[in-house]
Amino acid sequence: MNETWSGVDAYFNGALAPEARDLEFILEASAAAGLPAISVSPAQGKLLALLARAIGARRVLEVGTLGGYSAAWLARALPPPTAGGTLITLELDKHHAEAARAHLAHLRLDDRVEVIVGSAIDSLAAIASEKPEPFDLVFIDADKPSNADYFARALPMTRPGGIIIVDNVVREGAVVDASSKDPGVLGVRRLVDAVAREKRVSATVVQTVGSKGYDGFLLAYVNG
Ligand code: SAH
Ligand code: DHB
Ligand code: MG
Repeated sequence: MNETWSGVDAYFNGALAPEARDLEFILEASAAAGLPAISVSPAQGKLLALLARAIGARRVLEVGTLGGYSAAWLARALPPPTAGGTLITLELDKHHAEAARAHLAHLRLDDRVEVIVGSAIDSLAAIASEKPEPFDLVFIDADKPSNADYFARALPMTRPGGIIIVDNVVREGAVVDASSKDPGVLGVRRLVDAVAREKRVSATVVQTVGSKGYDGFLLAYVNG
């Protein structure tokens, strides 16, 4: 991890993101519960929240909950449930899901967040079969080999003008190795091929450095 990147993140977060402090306990409690330290960074969480607000998001779908850190940023960006604010987050690991539920309840966000336990592919199929009101924003951040499957499932459930964001698409630059055998890299490259062919979206990747090292987000706008 680069010390300059972390220092710059700390400087800007201190100046611009005091609300990140309320969420720090999720990272601490997650670590204490033995969850891996792979949540989005505070600056990335705030970016997710600002994107949700910028598009007036009411309905958010997340794939990969962990301890609920990114879910908390997104849920706080939503209107109250009485105004339609709702976040559905999918998690395979029961222990992670239970930790996330406790953390979100502590922040009183449990009124607008539903954590669904199970394989995300199955949960996405179940949600689609219920023909839900479209989602405004989808955040994909689970097992990387399944990225393209999650994207394919999420796209028909996202409204035109909505956005689909995929975490960890750069992985310290490993993504450019076309001969990589790393399942994570292969998963990202399969996603990028699918997004490149997909006429319903317009996409870009934002490379990021910071307290989480060197990585990046894929942002896909669902064309109107
Ligand atoms: N979005 C979280 C971090 C998620 S880490 C944050 O930034 O705070 C990735 C999560 O995806 C882990 O909790 C892992 O258990 C979960 N996961 C892995 N494979 C999955 C699958 N097949 N279905 C659903 N969740 C899965
Ligand atoms: C890993 C997963 C993530 O979602 C992340 O943000 C960082 C690392 C991982 O599986 O190593
Ligand atoms: Mg991630």
